[in-house]
This record gives sequence, C-alpha cells and structure tokens, in this order.
Amino acid sequence: MTSHLSASTALPGKFITFEGIDGAGKSTHIDFVADLLKAHGKTVVSSREPGGTPLGEALREVLLHQKMHLETEALLMFASRREHLAQVIEPALQRGDWVISDRFSDASFAYQGGGRGLDVAKLEALEQWVHPHLQPALTLLFDVPLDIARARLDATRTLDKFEQEQTTFFANCRQEYLRRAAQFPDRIVVVDSTRSIADTRARLTAIIENLLEL
Ligand code: TYD
Repeated sequence: MTSHLSASTALPGKFITFEGIDGAGKSTHIDFVADLLKAHGKTVVSSREPGGTPLGEALREVLLHQKMHLETEALLMFASRREHLAQVIEPALQRGDWVISDRFSDASFAYQGGGRGLDVAKLEALEQWVHPHLQPALTLLFDVPLDIARARLDATRTLDKFEQEQTTFFANCRQEYLRRAAQFPDRIVVVDSTRSIADTRARLTAIIENLLEL
C-alpha cells in the first residue's frame, strides 16, 4: 500500500460523509442511505462528529455548549476526529464495512473556517496531521438557502451553541461548503435539499447505486 492512496482504494470498506448547514436536512436522510446500503448487503457503521466515541461524545457536549477561543474549538474538533478515526472509522474500513458519518472535516472548514474565520491553512495543517491519507469516498452536501434552514431549525428543536449563530455565520459556512464542493467535485456531491423528501431520496438512490457500481 502506498501512502497516497485514498480510503476508497486503499481500504476494503467505503466512507461516506453527510454535510450541510444546520437545518439543511441531512439528518432526515442518513437512515435512508444506511438502509439502502444494508439492502445491498453491506455492513454499515453509522456515526457522527463531533462524537462517535465515548471521548468524542464528551467533547461534543463541551463543544456544543461552551464558548471558547476559535482555535480551541478547531483543535477539539480534530481531537474528537482523531479518536473517531482510531476507534471506529479505520477499523471498520479495514474490516470492509461501509462507514457513514454525520459530518467530518468539511464541517471544520465550513464552521471554524467559513463561519468563524479561522485561517484555512491552519485547518489544512490539522487535516494533514489527523488524516493525511484518508478522505471520504463520497460526501453528500445537503444545500438549502438560509431562510429555509432557519425555518426548519426553529420548527424542530432547542438550539445549541452553533445553531444560535446569526445569518452571516451560516451564509459564510454555506459559502465555504460550496467552495469545497467546487474544489473537490469528484468527492462532494451537492444535493438540493429544497426538494421534497421523495425527490431527494430518488436522487440519493441514484448517487448510492452509482457508488455501488450497480
Ligand atoms: P449537528 O451535526 O447539526 O447535530 P444535530 O443535528 O444533533 O444538532 O451538530 C453538530 C454541530 O457541530 C453543528 O452545528 C456543526 C458543528 N461542527 C463544527 O462546527 N465543526 C466540526 O468540525 C463539526 C464536525 C461539527
């Protein structure tokens, strides 16, 4: 195995990540994609970030509810990710399982980079440190205009630290997500999440069947 192979080619399993600003609707579709993969005979490990391990979940609690310096926030996101990779993602991919993660490093670029304004070079350095040779085989980026995301959030839950941010913050997150989608078109697929659930499911089925090479 050479050091430059991506996860999709170097390891027997496949890694799929779900991304989007808060309220974009990714949570609505994660179980659907997991069930689709299982129906095609895959063993699926579903996880999330920040979180995914006992330590990661403890960090999530702190990250979602305490104010902190923006570099502390970025470092803790990547600390949670390091543990998640070591304990969950890499062993599952080695076994040949399919791993679905509700958020991964693109969220750090979007939220800590785009939203909070942390220098992208620092995030790239952290990414190089934590997962230099592993990227998702597929990232589904759920995209909606800000007013729709905000209406969905307000209708469904008590807001955490990130969800309480203002419109400009989310506009910058969304812009960074879309910039990364343009930068990595082979990995990141933008899913128009303003459509009906049925339409979005049809699109997701086509994308996943393509990945399954059906
Ligand atoms: P989210 O995935 O939206 O979970 P839930 O649906 O339970 O609210 O919440 C995670 C929050 O953490 C989200 O607001 C984005 C933020 N986040 C970052 O800021 N940076 C990161 O690297 C990750 C993984 C998440």
